[in-house]
Amino acid sequence: MEKNPKNAFQTIRKEYLSSGISRKSLLSDPVEQFGRWFDEALTSGCTEPNSMALATANAQGMPSLRMVLLKGFDRDGFVFFSNYESRKGRELAENPRGALLFYWPELHRQVRLEGGIERLSAAASQAYFHTRPFLSQIGALASRQSERIESREMLERRFMELEEKYRGQTVPMPDVWGGYLLQPVRFEFWQGRENRLHDRVAYILQDRRWQKERLSP
Ligand SMILES: Cc1cc2nc3c(=O)[nH]c(=O)nc-3n(C[C@H](O)[C@H](O)[C@H](O)COP(=O)(O)O)c2cc1C
Repeated sequence: MEKNPKNAFQTIRKEYLSSGISRKSLLSDPVEQFGRWFDEALTSGCTEPNSMALATANAQGMPSLRMVLLKGFDRDGFVFFSNYESRKGRELAENPRGALLFYWPELHRQVRLEGGIERLSAAASQAYFHTRPFLSQIGALASRQSERIESREMLERRFMELEEKYRGQTVPMPDVWGGYLLQPVRFEFWQGRENRLHDRVAYILQDRRWQKERLSP
């Protein structure tokens, strides 16, 4: 079978005409630089600018990838929430490292981050859990994320039972639910430019200092 029927992919070709970035034009602290680009993604109408791909790998090094939502960041790291017994949770338990990727197509930008990943404290996870809408809390309680289920009906029945049980009450955070913190040791800021001569600037943590370098596109 032809992998590329009617050569459809050849017609998808977008020129990136953005103005570029230089090593000097980027802030010396990559977290601050990320903050600047994140603000620009927010104000440029990017769809779900806090959505990011999270890559993990199991102990054998087999990678896996999924989208999650960034829920905060500062010099301590980048926070997202999930289920500790999901596939990603199991992979992070055996190999506590990962990578994040943000893609903001409206700005022709991507940002990559890599680092160790640890769990947030239960107290910090609780604080966030209880800010979520009631039905999202019920959803977290109802779903054993990544486990095989018999049917959608069973899931919905469980959701309705829990909704009934906790209506008007505080929903207990499931023990297996909580936050993760990725502590970056590497960032890369990518800006699309004309003729595929894109700009790439990496920040690498060496002896607790960030070193910036330009990479070939
Ligand atoms: C835009 C988007 C945002 C998502 N955000 C989250 C999230 O913050 N946390 C989460 O556990 N799953 C989130 N998901 C679902 C995950 O992509 C994934 O299906 C789920 O976490 C199970 O992944 P796993 O089996 O690899 O553990 C999101 C999906 C999309 C498309």
